[in-house]
Amino acid sequence: MDLSAFPRVALGSWPTPLDDAPRLAAALGGPPILIKRDDVNGLGAGGNKLRKLEFLLGQALEQGADTIITFGALQTNHGRQTAAACAKLGLRCELVLTAKVPMEGDAYERSGNIVLDHMFGANVHVCADAEESAAAYEKVNHDKAVTLPTGGSNGLGTLGYVAAAAELVGQLHERGIDNALVVVPDGSGATAAGMALGTELLGWPGTVHAVSVSHPAAEAEQVLRSLGAEAAGLLGEPAPELGHVTVTDDTVGPGYGVPTPEMWSVLKLFAETEGVVLDPVYTGKTAVKFREIAAVGEVPIVFLHTGGLPGFYGYAPEAVARFGPA
Ligand SMILES: Cc1ncc(COP(=O)(O)O)c(C=O)c1O
Repeated sequence: MDLSAFPRVALGSWPTPLDDAPRLAAALGGPPILIKRDDVNGLGAGGNKLRKLEFLLGQALEQGADTIITFGALQTNHGRQTAAACAKLGLRCELVLTAKVPMEGDAYERSGNIVLDHMFGANVHVCADAEESAAAYEKVNHDKAVTLPTGGSNGLGTLGYVAAAAELVGQLHERGIDNALVVVPDGSGATAAGMALGTELLGWPGTVHAVSVSHPAAEAEQVLRSLGAEAAGLLGEPAPELGHVTVTDDTVGPGYGVPTPEMWSVLKLFAETEGVVLDPVYTGKTAVKFREIAAVGEVPIVFLHTGGLPGFYGYAPEAVARFGPA
């Protein structure tokens, strides 16, 4: 798997740590647990988007871009990491955000990721609906602007997680682990697609479980397959079979970004056993499924921590009500 032909800009610190989580494993009573810490990769408070952005912005710079435009929900982690990367690279950043989640209040609307977007110098356009977003987009688009898809999920962005798969498989191998189950959050899809494609191309004997936090599983699987095929095409490979991949959606609850009691309880579990903070939208709902799988698992199980800590603060009032001082 040679990714050297693709222009790439250095944004994160690699490899990210692969930490043992013995107290979490003991609490769940299942196999050994490892946490792949893609939440602590450096720039802009970190997270999974940096791996995609290394490829996406590498290409944008090669194309002579001076502006990056992208999209997301108000508390988009992708937008925040894109804004940070643009600050580092001296690019103008236009974030076209829409209110997709039924959450209100100062914490959600003004704190968390969105205050960081402003601090990184991005121009933030908050839109009520698709029509307003289209108009905002038209206004900021120009010939030296490059537009990135929501979540940075296209074939090129997927290569970031193909690289991550190789990194993780190497780290597991060094520990004598050649068969494991990797549990991955699935939103716009490229993280899971890259992990799935990368592990297949490496001929790795383990399995990948993608936990959808927004779309029905069948839809998420279709997106995963199409991103996997697109990324494979860029590498000159046929579409992957992905027989080692499972996609589930039963921990979404009432909807994307809407907290569930199970999500809060698993956030507490990770925090009190390992000192690890998950986010309410992605890693929290993924960890609900992870907790269920890990309790009955037979091989070592890896939790891919994709970040999102700033998003946690968007939900601060509810977190305080549950865990904070009375
Ligand atoms: C913290 C976090 N985890 C996971 C994901 C999901 O990754 P993907 O969009 O590649 O499926 C996102 C995407 O926004 C995210 O911000």
